[in-house]
Amino acid sequence: MLVSILQDVQSAFQYLPKEALAEVAKKLEIPLTKVYSVATFFKAFSLMPRGRHLISVCMGTACHVRGSDKVLDKIERELSIKHGETTADLRFSLETVNCVGACALGPMVMIDEEYHGQMNAEKVSAVLAKYA
Ligand code: FES
Repeated sequence: MLVSILQDVQSAFQYLPKEALAEVAKKLEIPLTKVYSVATFFKAFSLMPRGRHLISVCMGTACHVRGSDKVLDKIERELSIKHGETTADLRFSLETVNCVGACALGPMVMIDEEYHGQMNAEKVSAVLAKYA
């Protein structure tokens, strides 16, 4: 029940605002610490505002040996953020993942639900521009 409520809040705000967590704790009559422990346990939940688009750069072995670190570096420089962060305009959040199951097409970058295979640093600007 708590998880599904938090999913609803996350989907409404794209993150879990602290005021909403306090409201959930109050309505369910459970300690706020319990709400936070669930909110921080699941990676799908975020306590910070997230960008409209989530960029996931695969750093799994197959992608890493094909240069995903250079792709990540280019995206970080292009957006002026590090992985784990969100751009100030809330356009993008950037994260790393360990495998998205498409190793043969690495380096893989996912943006929202879309796969971008055989990425390299030169392609980054053009791909990001599609999400303006
Ligand atoms: S290691 Fe990147 S998709 Fe599998």
